[in-house]
Amino acid sequence: MSEKEWITVNPGASRRVIVTKDLPGEHWKQILQEADCSMEICTDPAVLSNEEIIARIGERCDGAIGQLTEDWNAHLFAGLRAAGGTAYSNGAVGYNNVDVAAATANGIAVGNTPGVLTETTAEMAVALTFAAGRRVTEADRFMRGGHYQGWLPTMFLGQRFVGKTVGVVGAGRIGSAYARMMVEGHKMHLVYYDLYPNEALEQYIADYSAFLVEHGEAPLTCRRLDSVLDVLREADVVSLHTVLDDATHHLIDAEALAVMKPDAVLVNSSRGPVIDEVALVEHCRSHPEFRVGLDVFEDEPAMKPGLAELDNVVVVPHIASATVWTREGMSSLAAANVAAILAGYPVWESDDITPFLSGKVPKAAPSIVNAADL
Ligand code: GLV
Repeated sequence: MSEKEWITVNPGASRRVIVTKDLPGEHWKQILQEADCSMEICTDPAVLSNEEIIARIGERCDGAIGQLTEDWNAHLFAGLRAAGGTAYSNGAVGYNNVDVAAATANGIAVGNTPGVLTETTAEMAVALTFAAGRRVTEADRFMRGGHYQGWLPTMFLGQRFVGKTVGVVGAGRIGSAYARMMVEGHKMHLVYYDLYPNEALEQYIADYSAFLVEHGEAPLTCRRLDSVLDVLREADVVSLHTVLDDATHHLIDAEALAVMKPDAVLVNSSRGPVIDEVALVEHCRSHPEFRVGLDVFEDEPAMKPGLAELDNVVVVPHIASATVWTREGMSSLAAANVAAILAGYPVWESDDITPFLSGKVPKAAPSIVNAADL
């Protein structure tokens, strides 16, 4: 195992926090500095193994900020606990890479970073929807390949979205932001599946529809359907916004793909294993009019064999939350989670996390997922 490079910020502080990847911005460092923490930051882009993380935790470590590429399992939390640690924050809103029960059993708080990814991630899902539906990357490759010989009425025909039906699987924060962007911006009807009705979203679309009617436009509908398959059957565009757990692993398998319209657009900016990627490759091969936009992959960073060769698939490297504002915000929230737990502060009660994004932050941890169990 080759030694990876780490740098130390604020050496000599009374508390020690390890940070497994360099994070954007300076604000997060100020938060930890204020909390009297030194930060040991791994500047190597390669994913750290659990052995490397354990070695870095060492004999005394108060807290850690990790990433979704790492497997924060019982072994790591036992190591952090043995080193005196009480705080961990994922630098992400999703935490399927974290064994929260093991952290709780070791008395370690687990933070995440909701509230700053919502619109940013939804915007990327919209970008992928249009890139796939209007064949943007395929046409870009065509231009760069020197194949454009002149305008033709038949070239790169894609999908028109206005007035069609958008389907959302998982109508939480990001799913409903995406739904609103597609409904408001492109006048699409909405069908969604979620375990719970999203009354605020339904009311918003009903009000928007009334507004359209007042302006002489056609009304729009919003319906929560009984199953994911119902959404897949009805929608012209489907965007996935579920968490990854046992219930959603391979939610979109060969059988699910088979019920979709042959020229539908499928977008995934949630977690790769929600789609059976081998089945997806097969489906895209046999349905050239079916189009897909993927931000996440089953075996990230790898793609399943054949995926990269498919012209009807647009792929980007898990960058849905990659805007400067969002990534700096995520870093501030992760740092504030760790700093607050180490200082013994309570959990922030409100969904509005903006007070944590600049300057002096409140004396609270913005988001601790196992707070109720500690
Ligand atoms: C990104 O995928 C996140 O969960 O924050």
